[in-house]
Amino acid sequence: MLKSDSEKLEKIVSLAKRRGFIFPGSEIYGGLAGIYDYGPLGVELRHNIKQYFWNKFISEREDVYGMSAAILMPERVWEASGHTEQFSDPLVECELCHARIREDLLDAIKEHEDMHTKKKEKTKWSEPKVFNLLVETKLGASQDSATKVYLRGEITQGVHVNFKNILDSMHPKIPFGIGQIGKAFRNEITPRDFLFRQREFEQMELQYYIRPDEEEGKKMFEYWKEFAFNWYLNLGFKKENLRLRAHASDERAHYAKDAWDIEYNAPFGGWKEAWGIHHRGDWDLKRHNEYSGKDLSYFDEEKKERYIPWDIECSGGVDRAVLFVLLEAYSEDELGGETRSYLKLAKHLAPIQVAVFPLLKNKPDLISKARDVHALIKKQIPSTEFDDNGNIGKRYRRQDEIGTPQCVTIDFQTLDDNTVTVRDRDTGNQERVGVSELVSFLTK
Ligand code: GAP
Repeated sequence: MLKSDSEKLEKIVSLAKRRGFIFPGSEIYGGLAGIYDYGPLGVELRHNIKQYFWNKFISEREDVYGMSAAILMPERVWEASGHTEQFSDPLVECELCHARIREDLLDAIKEHEDMHTKKKEKTKWSEPKVFNLLVETKLGASQDSATKVYLRGEITQGVHVNFKNILDSMHPKIPFGIGQIGKAFRNEITPRDFLFRQREFEQMELQYYIRPDEEEGKKMFEYWKEFAFNWYLNLGFKKENLRLRAHASDERAHYAKDAWDIEYNAPFGGWKEAWGIHHRGDWDLKRHNEYSGKDLSYFDEEKKERYIPWDIECSGGVDRAVLFVLLEAYSEDELGGETRSYLKLAKHLAPIQVAVFPLLKNKPDLISKARDVHALIKKQIPSTEFDDNGNIGKRYRRQDEIGTPQCVTIDFQTLDDNTVTVRDRDTGNQERVGVSELVSFLTK
């Protein structure tokens, strides 16, 4: 059983690798700090989270468009957005081993000092230095002619630089939004806590453009704060494990007039940022208007006015959501006299919705019937898996650990009366259900 809260993160890291969710990036070459690869089950879980974002923030709404911008963007974009100048963290450097750590990560600094103390050494830190987080690369055939470009530090700018394209092609009426999901890159000084602080990660964002008006701004900010919080809650969190927190004025990013975070009560160090809601005002469009020389104003037919809209932003980390969902779902209990661990994932997020087993794997009649039942369910519920590895106890343990909500077993009684057992992941209870009602039972 779990000895402490902090042990939970270690258990998740181990489960994620053992069960095919998440692996350290390029592991056979020694890995790369802050980079992770998703395995077969992790990619499904991540896909389900992103799909849920896309459904609720984009597809189900009439006022939001989806788009997908490129990762590589010219330097000028990042000068306009203020990132070349202001997107930085202060770091301190250990004068003994030259390790660099973010000045505000007190836990990491303490860990580093303890490491030296164990070796009977005394650490000295440099004065803080400012370090820009943008990841740069070059495009072009030769070193001389190559152009410096940046891997985007936030996916946001891809939307703002397409604002005019969306206006000209879709003719939206304000207020309207543009949503996007995609990779972002940051040269984090101290990547840590598994997926929490990575150097390559995914974001899901909405930029919601509104009239430049204080009252409208307040109303829309409140609306999106509540919308995003409820969306996050529906990933399967207990209400007491999530909270909204306002940024202090010295904590806000350079573009934000107001900023709130949705935070998760993480088992490593308490409340951690999961999602940001930012009032970006006209910062981005105004700067791109100025730096590109292209008119990014909007003509409001109703008000007969031309203006640069304000932007209310919802910005969530996909990988952080994956991590927090896994941490929240991880459970241990006693079942049938044995300790088991399982993932109590919300049904709409589970990588495998249903697993189908023959009771024994060397009985052709059972296998053939199980294959038929599997095919029948899979037509309606695509993420259904057939599993005849090991014995039935082992199969249940694996499905519990990967968070499969229901397991269907085909046994000898099935061959007589066409009923199967359906086992519930959380209670371990089994019910007999007729094959003809099975799909509606599983989807209810
Ligand atoms: N467009 C606004 C923006 O990027 P942010 O607060 O810097 O704002 C938004 O990032 C979200 O992206 C965060 O709430 C977090 O979930 C995720 N995120 C940021 N940096 C991250 C990192 N290094 N690793 C994983 N996720 C990160």
